[in-house]
Amino acid sequence: MGLGYIGLPTAIVAADNGIEVTGVDINPQVVDTVSRGEIHIVEPGLTALCSRVIAKGTLKAQTIPAESDVYLIVVPTPFTGDHQPDISYVEAATRSVLPFLKEGDLYIIESTSPVGTTEKMAGLIFSERPELKDKLAIAYCPERVLPGNVMYELVHNDRVIGGLNPASTEKAVGFYRRFVKGALHETNTRTAEMCKLTENSSRDVQIAFANELSLICDKAGINVWELIELANKHPRVNILQPPWNRERSWY
Ligand SMILES: NC(=O)c1ccc[n+]([C@@H]2O[C@H](COP(=O)([O-])OP(=O)(O)OC[C@H]3O[C@@H](n4cnc5c(N)ncnc54)[C@H](O)[C@@H]3O)[C@@H](O)[C@H]2O)c1
Repeated sequence: MGLGYIGLPTAIVAADNGIEVTGVDINPQVVDTVSRGEIHIVEPGLTALCSRVIAKGTLKAQTIPAESDVYLIVVPTPFTGDHQPDISYVEAATRSVLPFLKEGDLYIIESTSPVGTTEKMAGLIFSERPELKDKLAIAYCPERVLPGNVMYELVHNDRVIGGLNPASTEKAVGFYRRFVKGALHETNTRTAEMCKLTENSSRDVQIAFANELSLICDKAGINVWELIELANKHPRVNILQPPWNRERSWY
Protein backbone atom coordinates (compact mmCIF):
# COMPACT_ATOMS: atom_id res chain seq x y z
CA MET A 1 0.00 0.00 0.00
CA GLY A 2 1.84 3.12 -1.27
CA LEU A 3 4.27 3.11 -4.21
CA GLY A 4 6.45 6.07 -3.24
CA TYR A 5 10.12 6.45 -2.38
CA ILE A 6 9.99 3.51 0.01
CA GLY A 7 7.01 1.42 -1.12
CA LEU A 8 7.98 1.19 -4.80
CA PRO A 9 11.57 -0.06 -4.28
CA THR A 10 10.29 -2.48 -1.63
CA ALA A 11 7.63 -3.83 -4.02
CA ILE A 12 10.16 -4.18 -6.83
CA VAL A 13 12.83 -5.88 -4.71
CA ALA A 14 10.27 -8.27 -3.21
CA ALA A 15 8.94 -9.06 -6.72
CA ASP A 16 12.51 -9.66 -7.92
CA ASN A 17 12.88 -12.23 -5.13
CA GLY A 18 10.00 -14.35 -6.35
CA ILE A 19 7.22 -12.79 -4.28
CA GLU A 20 4.04 -12.04 -6.22
CA VAL A 21 3.38 -8.36 -5.47
CA THR A 22 0.33 -6.20 -6.09
CA GLY A 23 1.52 -2.63 -5.69
CA VAL A 24 -1.34 -0.34 -4.72
CA ASP A 25 -1.35 3.46 -4.94
CA ILE A 26 -4.28 5.86 -4.87
CA ASN A 27 -2.49 8.03 -7.46
CA PRO A 28 -3.48 6.71 -10.93
CA GLN A 29 -0.46 8.36 -12.58
CA VAL A 30 1.87 6.38 -10.32
CA VAL A 31 0.01 3.18 -11.18
CA ASP A 32 0.12 3.93 -14.94
CA THR A 33 3.85 4.67 -14.83
CA VAL A 34 4.73 1.53 -12.85
CA SER A 35 2.44 -0.61 -15.03
CA ARG A 36 4.53 0.47 -18.05
CA GLY A 37 7.65 -0.77 -16.25
CA GLU A 38 8.79 2.80 -15.54
CA ILE A 39 9.23 4.72 -12.28
CA HIS A 40 8.15 8.19 -11.13
CA ILE A 41 10.93 8.63 -8.56
CA VAL A 42 14.66 9.14 -8.98
CA GLU A 43 16.54 6.07 -7.81
CA PRO A 44 19.61 4.60 -9.56
CA GLY A 45 19.13 1.03 -10.79
CA LEU A 46 15.42 0.90 -10.05
CA THR A 47 14.01 1.45 -13.58
CA ALA A 48 15.74 -1.62 -15.02
CA LEU A 49 14.53 -3.82 -12.18
CA CYS A 50 11.00 -2.38 -12.42
CA SER A 51 10.68 -3.17 -16.12
CA ARG A 52 12.02 -6.67 -15.45
CA VAL A 53 9.51 -7.57 -12.72
CA ILE A 54 6.61 -6.01 -14.66
CA ALA A 55 7.61 -8.01 -17.77
CA LYS A 56 7.95 -11.17 -15.65
CA GLY A 57 4.54 -10.50 -14.11
CA THR A 58 5.68 -10.74 -10.45
CA LEU A 59 4.74 -7.06 -9.93
CA LYS A 60 1.50 -5.49 -10.99
CA ALA A 61 0.23 -2.06 -10.01
CA GLN A 62 -3.33 -0.95 -9.37
CA THR A 63 -5.33 1.73 -7.59
CA ILE A 64 -7.43 -0.61 -5.46
CA PRO A 65 -6.21 -3.29 -3.05
CA ALA A 66 -6.56 -7.00 -3.74
CA GLU A 67 -6.58 -10.11 -1.59
CA SER A 68 -3.11 -11.04 -0.43
CA ASP A 69 -1.30 -12.97 2.32
CA VAL A 70 0.84 -10.01 3.41
CA TYR A 71 -0.14 -6.31 3.55
CA LEU A 72 2.58 -3.66 3.81
CA ILE A 73 1.49 -0.13 4.72
CA VAL A 74 4.04 2.35 3.28
CA VAL A 75 2.05 5.57 3.00
CA PRO A 76 2.99 9.12 4.08
CA THR A 77 2.96 10.15 7.75
CA PRO A 78 3.39 13.94 7.60
CA PHE A 79 2.85 16.49 10.35
CA THR A 80 -0.32 18.51 10.70
CA GLY A 81 -0.08 22.33 10.87
CA ASP A 82 0.36 22.21 14.64
CA HIS A 83 3.25 19.70 14.50
CA GLN A 84 1.11 16.70 15.39
CA PRO A 85 1.81 13.47 13.50
CA ASP A 86 -0.86 12.74 10.90
CA ILE A 87 -1.61 9.02 10.73
CA SER A 88 -4.75 9.46 8.62
CA TYR A 89 -3.06 7.93 5.52
CA VAL A 90 -2.10 4.85 7.55
CA GLU A 91 -5.66 4.60 8.77
CA ALA A 92 -7.12 5.07 5.25
CA ALA A 93 -4.80 2.41 3.79
CA THR A 94 -5.66 0.05 6.66
CA ARG A 95 -9.40 0.59 6.16
CA SER A 96 -9.04 -0.14 2.44
CA VAL A 97 -7.53 -3.60 3.08
CA LEU A 98 -10.02 -4.51 5.85
CA PRO A 99 -12.42 -6.37 3.53
CA PHE A 100 -9.60 -8.55 2.16
CA LEU A 101 -8.07 -9.71 5.47
CA LYS A 102 -8.36 -13.41 6.33
CA GLU A 103 -7.08 -15.73 9.02
CA GLY A 104 -3.29 -16.21 8.92
CA ASP A 105 -2.52 -12.95 7.08
CA LEU A 106 0.40 -10.71 7.98
CA TYR A 107 -0.17 -6.93 8.30
CA ILE A 108 2.91 -4.71 8.59
CA ILE A 109 3.29 -0.95 8.97
CA GLU A 110 6.55 0.45 7.54
CA SER A 111 5.57 4.15 7.65
CA THR A 112 7.44 6.20 10.25
CA SER A 113 4.77 6.42 12.95
CA PRO A 114 4.17 7.71 16.48
CA VAL A 115 4.46 5.18 19.29
CA GLY A 116 1.23 3.20 19.65
CA THR A 117 0.16 3.46 15.97
CA THR A 118 0.45 -0.28 15.32
CA GLU A 119 -1.63 -1.08 18.42
CA LYS A 120 -4.15 1.55 17.31
CA MET A 121 -4.45 0.00 13.84
CA ALA A 122 -4.75 -3.47 15.39
CA GLY A 123 -7.62 -2.08 17.47
CA LEU A 124 -9.25 -0.70 14.32
CA ILE A 125 -8.85 -4.00 12.45
CA PHE A 126 -10.27 -6.09 15.29
CA SER A 127 -13.15 -3.71 15.94
CA GLU A 128 -14.19 -3.95 12.27
CA ARG A 129 -13.30 -7.64 11.84
CA PRO A 130 -13.75 -9.12 15.37
CA GLU A 131 -13.72 -12.68 14.02
CA LEU A 132 -10.02 -12.20 13.14
CA LYS A 133 -8.94 -11.40 16.72
CA ASP A 134 -5.72 -13.35 17.50
CA LYS A 135 -5.79 -14.82 13.99
CA LEU A 136 -3.62 -12.21 12.23
CA ALA A 137 0.07 -11.44 12.56
CA ILE A 138 0.60 -7.70 13.05
CA ALA A 139 4.00 -5.98 13.10
CA TYR A 140 5.86 -2.72 12.69
CA CYS A 141 9.06 -2.64 10.63
CA PRO A 142 10.52 0.79 9.82
CA GLU A 143 12.63 1.48 6.76
CA ARG A 144 16.03 3.21 7.11
CA VAL A 145 17.29 3.41 3.53
CA LEU A 146 19.11 6.42 2.08
CA PRO A 147 17.44 7.69 -1.11
CA GLY A 148 20.02 7.34 -3.90
CA ASN A 149 21.39 4.12 -2.40
CA VAL A 150 18.11 2.31 -1.88
CA MET A 151 18.84 -0.73 -4.06
CA TYR A 152 21.81 -1.67 -1.88
CA GLU A 153 20.47 -0.59 1.52
CA LEU A 154 17.02 -2.15 1.16
CA VAL A 155 18.69 -5.55 0.96
CA HIS A 156 21.77 -5.11 3.15
CA ASN A 157 20.69 -2.85 6.04
CA ASP A 158 19.75 -4.43 9.36
CA ARG A 159 16.03 -4.17 10.14
CA VAL A 160 14.16 -3.81 13.43
CA ILE A 161 10.95 -5.86 13.51
CA GLY A 162 8.43 -5.45 16.30
CA GLY A 163 5.40 -7.69 16.46
CA LEU A 164 2.23 -7.29 18.49
CA ASN A 165 3.20 -10.66 20.01
CA PRO A 166 6.14 -13.07 19.49
CA ALA A 167 4.25 -15.08 16.84
CA SER A 168 3.67 -11.89 14.80
CA THR A 169 7.34 -10.94 15.07
CA GLU A 170 8.38 -14.40 13.92
CA LYS A 171 6.05 -14.31 10.93
CA ALA A 172 7.26 -10.84 9.89
CA VAL A 173 10.89 -11.95 10.23
CA GLY A 174 10.12 -14.89 7.92
CA PHE A 175 8.68 -12.48 5.35
CA TYR A 176 11.62 -10.04 5.35
CA ARG A 177 14.11 -12.93 5.31
CA ARG A 178 12.93 -13.60 1.74
CA PHE A 179 14.63 -10.45 0.41
CA VAL A 180 16.71 -8.85 3.21
CA LYS A 181 20.30 -10.02 3.78
CA GLY A 182 20.94 -7.69 6.77
CA ALA A 183 20.29 -8.90 10.33
CA LEU A 184 16.64 -8.86 11.46
CA HIS A 185 16.38 -7.67 15.06
CA GLU A 186 13.28 -8.75 16.95
CA THR A 187 11.38 -6.57 19.42
CA ASN A 188 7.83 -5.35 20.15
CA THR A 189 5.81 -2.77 18.17
CA ARG A 190 6.35 0.16 20.55
CA THR A 191 10.11 -0.29 20.74
CA ALA A 192 10.33 -0.59 16.94
CA GLU A 193 8.24 2.58 16.48
CA MET A 194 10.36 4.48 19.00
CA CYS A 195 13.56 3.09 17.47
CA LYS A 196 12.74 4.71 14.10
CA LEU A 197 11.93 8.03 15.78
CA THR A 198 15.16 7.78 17.78
CA GLU A 199 17.21 7.15 14.63
CA ASN A 200 15.64 10.13 12.84
CA SER A 201 16.08 12.41 15.88
CA SER A 202 19.68 11.37 16.32
CA ARG A 203 20.48 12.12 12.68
CA ASP A 204 18.62 15.43 12.93
CA VAL A 205 20.57 16.57 16.00
CA GLN A 206 23.93 15.48 14.57
CA ILE A 207 23.33 17.14 11.20
CA ALA A 208 22.12 20.34 12.91
CA PHE A 209 25.24 20.38 15.10
CA ALA A 210 27.58 20.07 12.11
CA ASN A 211 25.58 22.72 10.21
CA GLU A 212 25.92 25.13 13.13
CA LEU A 213 29.66 24.46 13.28
CA SER A 214 29.88 25.16 9.57
CA LEU A 215 28.14 28.56 10.02
CA ILE A 216 30.35 29.50 12.98
CA CYS A 217 33.52 28.47 11.10
CA ASP A 218 32.47 30.47 8.08
CA LYS A 219 32.20 33.60 10.23
CA ALA A 220 35.45 32.85 12.06
CA GLY A 221 37.49 32.07 8.91
CA ILE A 222 38.08 28.44 9.93
CA ASN A 223 38.00 25.45 7.55
CA VAL A 224 35.16 23.36 8.99
CA TRP A 225 36.33 20.08 7.40
CA GLU A 226 39.80 20.45 8.91
CA LEU A 227 38.21 21.38 12.25
CA ILE A 228 35.96 18.29 12.30
CA GLU A 229 38.78 16.01 11.21
CA LEU A 230 40.89 17.28 14.12
CA ALA A 231 38.03 17.16 16.65
CA ASN A 232 37.29 13.58 15.57
CA LYS A 233 40.82 12.59 16.65
CA HIS A 234 39.30 12.63 20.16
CA PRO A 235 38.52 8.97 20.96
CA ARG A 236 34.90 9.73 21.95
CA VAL A 237 34.00 12.49 19.45
CA ASN A 238 32.43 11.63 16.08
CA ILE A 239 31.05 14.74 14.34
CA LEU A 240 29.41 14.35 10.93
CA GLN A 241 31.07 15.98 7.92
CA PRO A 242 28.93 18.61 6.15
CA PRO A 243 28.55 17.77 2.44
CA TRP A 244 30.81 19.61 -0.01
CA ASN A 245 27.91 20.43 -2.26
CA ARG A 246 24.20 19.73 -2.71
CA GLU A 247 24.87 16.59 -4.76
CA ARG A 248 26.49 14.79 -1.84
CA SER A 249 24.85 13.35 1.24
CA TRP A 250 25.95 13.56 4.82
CA TYR A 251 28.47 10.99 5.91
N1 LIG B 1 11.61 8.67 1.77
C1 LIG B 1 12.45 8.26 2.70
O1 LIG B 1 13.67 8.43 2.61
C2 LIG B 1 11.94 7.50 3.90
C3 LIG B 1 12.85 6.76 4.67
C4 LIG B 1 12.37 6.02 5.75
C5 LIG B 1 11.02 6.06 6.07
N2 LIG B 1 10.16 6.81 5.32
C6 LIG B 1 8.74 6.78 5.70
O2 LIG B 1 8.07 5.90 4.79
C7 LIG B 1 6.73 6.35 4.61
C8 LIG B 1 6.49 6.56 3.13
O3 LIG B 1 7.36 7.56 2.69
P1 LIG B 1 7.68 7.81 1.16
O4 LIG B 1 8.86 8.69 1.10
O5 LIG B 1 7.70 6.50 0.42
O6 LIG B 1 6.36 8.63 0.73
P2 LIG B 1 5.88 9.04 -0.74
O7 LIG B 1 5.08 10.27 -0.59
O8 LIG B 1 7.04 9.01 -1.69
O9 LIG B 1 4.92 7.82 -1.17
C9 LIG B 1 3.74 7.50 -0.52
C10 LIG B 1 2.74 6.97 -1.55
O10 LIG B 1 1.59 6.50 -0.85
C11 LIG B 1 0.46 6.77 -1.67
N3 LIG B 1 -0.75 6.69 -0.84
C12 LIG B 1 -1.27 7.61 0.00
N4 LIG B 1 -2.37 7.13 0.61
C13 LIG B 1 -2.56 5.87 0.13
C14 LIG B 1 -3.53 4.86 0.37
N5 LIG B 1 -4.53 5.03 1.23
N6 LIG B 1 -3.41 3.70 -0.30
C15 LIG B 1 -2.42 3.48 -1.18
N7 LIG B 1 -1.46 4.41 -1.45
C16 LIG B 1 -1.54 5.59 -0.80
C17 LIG B 1 0.75 8.15 -2.25
O11 LIG B 1 -0.02 8.39 -3.41
C18 LIG B 1 2.25 8.04 -2.54
O12 LIG B 1 2.53 7.61 -3.87
C19 LIG B 1 6.59 7.63 5.44
O13 LIG B 1 6.07 7.31 6.69
C20 LIG B 1 8.03 8.11 5.58
O14 LIG B 1 8.20 8.89 6.74
C21 LIG B 1 10.58 7.52 4.24
